Amino acid sequence: MKFLGNDTVEIKDGRFFIDGYDAVELAEKFGTPLYVMSEEQIKINYNRYIEAFKRWEEETGKEFIVAYAYKANANLAITKLLSKLGCGADVVSGGELYIAKLSNVPSEKIVFNGNCKTKEEIIMGIETKIRSFNVDSISELILINETAKELGETANIAFRINPNVNPKTHPKISTGLKKNKFGLDVESGIALKAIKMATEMEHVNVVGVHCHIGSQLTDISPFIEEARKVMDFVVELKKEGIEIEDVNLGGGLGIPYEKDKQIPTQKDLADAIINTLLEYKDKVEMPNLILEPGRSLVATAGYLLGRVHHIKETPITKWVMIDAGMNDMMRPAMYEAYHHIINCKVKDEKEKVSVAGGLCESSDVFGRDREIDKPEVWDILAIFDVGAYGISMANNYNARGRPRMVLTSKKGVFLIRERETYADLIAKDIVPPHLL
Ligand code: LLP
Repeated sequence: MKFLGNDTVEIKDGRFFIDGYDAVELAEKFGTPLYVMSEEQIKINYNRYIEAFKRWEEETGKEFIVAYAYKANANLAITKLLSKLGCGADVVSGGELYIAKLSNVPSEKIVFNGNCKTKEEIIMGIETKIRSFNVDSISELILINETAKELGETANIAFRINPNVNPKTHPKISTGLKKNKFGLDVESGIALKAIKMATEMEHVNVVGVHCHIGSQLTDISPFIEEARKVMDFVVELKKEGIEIEDVNLGGGLGIPYEKDKQIPTQKDLADAIINTLLEYKDKVEMPNLILEPGRSLVATAGYLLGRVHHIKETPITKWVMIDAGMNDMMRPAMYEAYHHIINCKVKDEKEKVSVAGGLCESSDVFGRDREIDKPEVWDILAIFDVGAYGISMANNYNARGRPRMVLTSKKGVFLIRERETYADLIAKDIVPPHLL
């Protein structure tokens, strides 16, 4: 049996295999809760982008860069893997920039996003000679210029615009509407004003326009609208004598969390974006094209394995309690996100159950009323598509250590993050002398 979006797993002889490894055996060997990341799936996802967008380089002679959004999953093994494949980095903090450098991402493939960059982070970006800061406000522009001046450098900048496009996704992950905090408004002229200011400044060099309208988009039309608004703005800039080298359209492509619903692919995205951009080829010089996918590179590569410890019947629900919880993976609690769940052992009987973690919160539920192979105590359940915004949003709530992670690949199974211990939980706490 196959699952939509998960190319490297299968159910065979009643067992669940990830990259050819039996999930129950992985759980037994490494303990639970356990994140399993498939190297093979990440390679497939990355190559789909490269294949789909190679037409851009062929038709325009300009670069196409995938800058992986580190916020999705910044585990060092994952970032090194993507870097080795040739992938760039979209970072939003000094921490992510540090990880990108450790992962040997070439500086010309690093872009720095975020709406509140600190001076310290700006210094780090300038010293790294990153491709561009995606400037989010005039205040930030001034700070970047001042900081570059102090360092005797010139910083490359792109402007994040707010195009007021509805991405038709969950409100908590929409970013390109007027009411959102991100970007410089185009309609009112603020974005143009900021860019004109920048061209008068001595220590910044305007290279690009950036935009990101939201995440988990399952409809292509907002990307087309976004690309049009960006290119209309690039045309407007050209009229003002400002030439743009890089157009960065952010991330946002969704993945099939629901296994019975086809959603647009990298190829669909590429056709839509490339065709829209090419409509402008007589008006402006075609730019280098940058995208910042996070979820669509790594989400479908990740599985969270949890062991069933208790089963409880109430008058309305049969609860299956597993040792993974919302601290390990908070998407269902935070966004009511759907994640497919299976029992890693196939049974003769299916049962309708709700799967919960063990934290003291009613929102600590991974799935309600799911038909799965009859769970019994000590079975291993797999929660799908947790490779993005899983471990990166994990925390220590209820004094629970974050889980172990392993990477499965053709080369073997590798531990890529150690489980946090009780000692780790208090490692940063300091008790004042009078309480010792
Ligand atoms: N670029 C920028 C500027 C972003 O803010 C984001 C995501 C991305 C790229 C990557 O977007 P992606 O390709 O992954 O959709 N925690 C939420 C998702 C928040 C996304 C924030 N920004 C979740 O679990 O659904």
